[in-house]
Amino acid sequence: MVYTDKDKKYRRYTVTSALPYANGPVHIGHLAGVYVPADVYVRYLRAQGEEVMFIGGSDEHGVPITIKARKEGCTPQDIVDRYHKIIKDSFAELGISFDIYSRTSSKEHHETAAAYFKKLYEEGKFIEKVSQQYYDEEAGCFLADRYITGTCPHCGNEHAYGDQCEACGTSLNATDLINPKSALSGSKPVLKDTKHWFLPLDKDEPWLREWILEGHKGDWKTNVYGQCKSWIDAGLQPRAVTRDLDWGVKVPLEGSDGKVLYVWFDAPIGYISFTKQLKGDDWEKWWKDQDTKLVHFIGKDNIVFHCIIFPSMLHADGSYILPANVPANEFLNLEGDKISTSRNWAVWLHEYLKEFPGKQDVLRYTLCSNAPETKDNDFTWKDFQLKNNSELVAILGNFVNRTLVLTHKFYGGKVPACTQAIKQSGNQAIDDEVVKELATFPERIGRSIETYRFREALSEMMNLARLGNKYLTDTEPWKLIKTDPERTATVMNLSLQICANLAVLCAPFLPFTADKMHLMLNLPAKGWQDAGKADLLMEGHTIGTPELLFEQISDETIQAQVDKLQATKEQNALNAWQPAEVKAPVTIDDFGKMDIRVGTILECQKVPKADKLLQFKIEDGMGTRTIVSGIAKYYPDPQALVGKQVCFIANFPPRKLKGVESQGMILSAEDKDGRLVLLTPSDIVTPGCNVG
Ligand code: 2FM
Ligand code: ZN
Repeated sequence: MVYTDKDKKYRRYTVTSALPYANGPVHIGHLAGVYVPADVYVRYLRAQGEEVMFIGGSDEHGVPITIKARKEGCTPQDIVDRYHKIIKDSFAELGISFDIYSRTSSKEHHETAAAYFKKLYEEGKFIEKVSQQYYDEEAGCFLADRYITGTCPHCGNEHAYGDQCEACGTSLNATDLINPKSALSGSKPVLKDTKHWFLPLDKDEPWLREWILEGHKGDWKTNVYGQCKSWIDAGLQPRAVTRDLDWGVKVPLEGSDGKVLYVWFDAPIGYISFTKQLKGDDWEKWWKDQDTKLVHFIGKDNIVFHCIIFPSMLHADGSYILPANVPANEFLNLEGDKISTSRNWAVWLHEYLKEFPGKQDVLRYTLCSNAPETKDNDFTWKDFQLKNNSELVAILGNFVNRTLVLTHKFYGGKVPACTQAIKQSGNQAIDDEVVKELATFPERIGRSIETYRFREALSEMMNLARLGNKYLTDTEPWKLIKTDPERTATVMNLSLQICANLAVLCAPFLPFTADKMHLMLNLPAKGWQDAGKADLLMEGHTIGTPELLFEQISDETIQAQVDKLQATKEQNALNAWQPAEVKAPVTIDDFGKMDIRVGTILECQKVPKADKLLQFKIEDGMGTRTIVSGIAKYYPDPQALVGKQVCFIANFPPRKLKGVESQGMILSAEDKDGRLVLLTPSDIVTPGCNVG
């Protein structure tokens, strides 16, 4: 039985997954939050025999794409062509089973989105407003907020953007910036009138409140419901659905040159235009029939767009269904840190696929079992290794392998007769118990999937493998064969039936493994309804050759990934380096107190038993003095320093370092990577002369 939200039985399913921006590849955060759960859901529904359409595609508009193109000196189309291909190919390789993966730069999408806008416009569903916006007179165009930089009024950062200051995190309006500057020409922009169209969300508030807050209390996830409630309670404002920009779907009205639809207006219409591309004239039932269940898989940053704005667009048209559920996930972090494209803090799918060939299901498994369903979660490489070695290899792989190998050994690969169980009375209680328990799994797993609890569903599936392992351990067929061949046949038959059930029930999560298992069992594809029974493999059926389903992942492999991230972290620290803030002012008298001089290095050696310290003998014009300095790490050959001149503080109080009295302090500069570099005069000077 299919359990549905609010227990309505639907006739078909339209399942969408957020359209990733085509300005970078996809990473594990996208996968765990959106694509793996969505794929599990649709694969399960298909196994249930449901009519399903799974929509995906690239979101190819928006300002970040134009900015990236400018930075790289190419066109926005070049950028989206490059990433659309990477994203589409990597999704396919991971087995994300879209029925269509299209793109919003396609002609069909532009036509559909423009027509959608036009219809609402003609029906008077928008309000028109003239507002003032920054205009670059040199470049001859209006500026998106990201294209304006200036000084943040909150923290004084001189490189704040028109929508946000990245130094203090405040969100800004472009007009808040002090000394605004156009990123296009560098000139000072001027404010100019511009007309835009707004969706009057304020008018939608009553029905949205009723539909979401009353209608979906209890069946939408609490994180989703909670976010909707706070938006609605805060009072909805009209939202502009157009922008002054030259990249996007052109506003289809006379005199709207230089205006495009706002990316968040056109992107969700992509779900509809892609349906048209896929289904042709038959598209409407997927969007307009009340018996179609519409489900949007998204990340939490997309909640307002899918629960409030897109439904308001659908409602404004009037002929569309609304989403039955929007099972948004929270975020996945990586090794304790927020995943970030700009800081390259991510595990990129296309790189994973290259570095771990044939291990798609390991990633699918790890991400599904760690999916951030109710709170943010963390991906670590250690955990990835553990999940592979201790769960996939040790539980699922081990059970299937033991069963298949024993079947070949005892019965030459033929399914033995189940003489004592199922149909006959007098079978062992333990066999009965296994058969009974087996019957409960399809429903248990299915119920969890239908209520978007994918982690729970996956762990239930693994419980079936655990049941199989326990059954083998308890019955010990490798010993039993010597004393009771008939019962051994029953045990092996039932173990094979569990394997066959696992092949069906693991398929939504681990499709590649399921395929291998079907092949190894020589089992034709079965539906979900067939599972739960102990008769999937007939007596006498010949199984295929057993192969290991999973292999151990070594410590070295994991360390290589951890090292890669460490290198990224170090690179990021270098990139983020900024000079320290200038200290409080000092007077000439303050400075005069410092007796800084130049000395010549006469001797230099390492201080015994102190890794960091070098001991210098310095000619200071009055004689010699010893100074100890913590720079040994940066000067591995102390002898090479002899003869060089350095600056030192001559009136620094003497102090003992590792038993050596240091009579002053040698000056060095700390570079951005933490390296200390000695300060040397540009010409030889008389030892003892003052610095000032
Ligand atoms: O947040 C994002 O990555 C958006 N590109 C998602 C768009 S989803 C949809 F509406 F198209
Ligand atoms: Zn700031």
